[in-house]
Amino acid sequence: MFENQLHSETSHRLWQALEAHYQRLKSTPISQLFSANPGRAEQHSLEIAGLFLDYSKQSFDESAFKSLLELAQASGLAHRRDAMFHGKPINSTEQRTVLHTALRSPDGPECIVDGVNVRALVKNELERIKVFANGVRHGTIKANDGGTFTDIINIGIGGSELGPKMAIEALGPYVQHDLHFHFLSNPDSQALNGVLSQIDPERTLVLVSSKTFTTQDTLANYLIVRQHLAEHLGGVEAAMRHCVALTAAPQTAIQQGFAPECVFEFWDWVGGRYSMWSAIGLPILIAIGSKHFDDFLAGAREMDNHFLTAPFKDNMPVLLALTGIWNHSIAGDRSVMLAAYDSRLHSFMPYVQQLDMESNGKQVDQSGAPLTRPSGPIVWGGLGINGQHAYFQLVHQGTQRVPVEFIGVLHAPDQNLEHQRIVFSNMLAQAEALMVGRSAAQIKTLMLANGFSEERAEALANHRSFAGNIPSLTLLVDELTPFKLGALAALYEHKVFVQGVIWGVNSFDQWGVELGKTLGRTIYDELRSEPHQKGHDPSTQALIARVFNALR
Ligand code: F6P
Repeated sequence: MFENQLHSETSHRLWQALEAHYQRLKSTPISQLFSANPGRAEQHSLEIAGLFLDYSKQSFDESAFKSLLELAQASGLAHRRDAMFHGKPINSTEQRTVLHTALRSPDGPECIVDGVNVRALVKNELERIKVFANGVRHGTIKANDGGTFTDIINIGIGGSELGPKMAIEALGPYVQHDLHFHFLSNPDSQALNGVLSQIDPERTLVLVSSKTFTTQDTLANYLIVRQHLAEHLGGVEAAMRHCVALTAAPQTAIQQGFAPECVFEFWDWVGGRYSMWSAIGLPILIAIGSKHFDDFLAGAREMDNHFLTAPFKDNMPVLLALTGIWNHSIAGDRSVMLAAYDSRLHSFMPYVQQLDMESNGKQVDQSGAPLTRPSGPIVWGGLGINGQHAYFQLVHQGTQRVPVEFIGVLHAPDQNLEHQRIVFSNMLAQAEALMVGRSAAQIKTLMLANGFSEERAEALANHRSFAGNIPSLTLLVDELTPFKLGALAALYEHKVFVQGVIWGVNSFDQWGVELGKTLGRTIYDELRSEPHQKGHDPSTQALIARVFNALR
């Protein structure tokens, strides 16, 4: 109790110190921080597990940075981190442990949860999914007609889709070339028909991925896909030979007709958005094989060990998190843009978006008291070069400051060096432009030198100027191997964890998605029968009636 109080008093003092630092620094251009400290670029960069992070283009100076590190210490981060890794029930609202890190260290020391050693569970299930994946890859697990599977449909949503989809795309060069992966999450007919039109039911394996096995969208898609298969394969029994379940509710799947040997399990101590290292990663395992999947786990494990052991000042997840704390909680930025400069990372942003926003989009602290400062930011973005020709305009010249996280991949298989130079010239130029900006006076001088009239230069100077001073960080991935992708994903998981600890929220529940689900069930019933006044607001009531009539 006394220790907690001490923590909170120290934290309060440090938050105030950080706010004072911000007031002191807010009109200091970031580029001036480099002149003041010639060693800044080197001091504020580090490399671990094939990932190089440069966070020097941020707007804090050495003194503010010291306070940020002290805040991390005072928040009890080390204690909570260790509690997470050791299986303490840190997900307080659901009374659960949080052990996704155990999924990537099956040989780690004994870790007992509810009287069971989770390492043994993890090892056993990892072996089962490996055997199954190898069978699919090598054609020893057969389709109903005795042929091999060529197409795999993953039916799942949120954490049961985004991680595997991101990883299979990112690891494209490692994917067995005669296997085709399809991801089905939305229950709308266009999405469904789009996938069904691409597959041959006789050659298709269906992975029904759902932690709870109660998600309406996933179950609706599963039943339609199963029916489609049944029509082509000669009945539901035959169709079921093409379906497996990946779930933390194995009994529910078995009750729905899955044979126990076709159910691959994970556990309630693995959050959905942290689950791609578990049975939910089966599509990844089928795609890249056991050896590469082991490398993927090893990369995440390397990041785990780094996070556990490195001092905060050299700890990549902590440093990544602290830049966000400074920008969102002190400087007041409401969002962060991810800009990936490699098309294999096409789905990295949606993956991080769920990870971050579902974890830290909270308004109360661990004790249920309202937060006094903003928590998780809006995470958005996508592929950097495409963004440059679409939404970067707002980042450069809009009225709100948007910090950017640039991610580049240095080497690619069969890379064309000229293409890589073009890609990196774009990425590095954007980060530089965001920081240095260009003043109206500079623009005017430039225009006059280029033969524009004084009047024209004067008229356009404000339109063409950039305030600059927009913070960014740059993450260089040496090569997009399974190992480095594992490290990258674990880096973001831990970044989110660190921020959650500093903000004092529970990053592992997601009650905010419940109300919409509950109301959705009521409205679904109303759309199936004559709509009745159910106490909806007038707008919703009228829309229900309109949709009901359209769908009659
Ligand atoms: O609605 C949100 C959510 O519960 C996510 O947390 C989860 O990743 C997703 O839905 C899918 O849930 P499930 O894996 O249980 O189908």
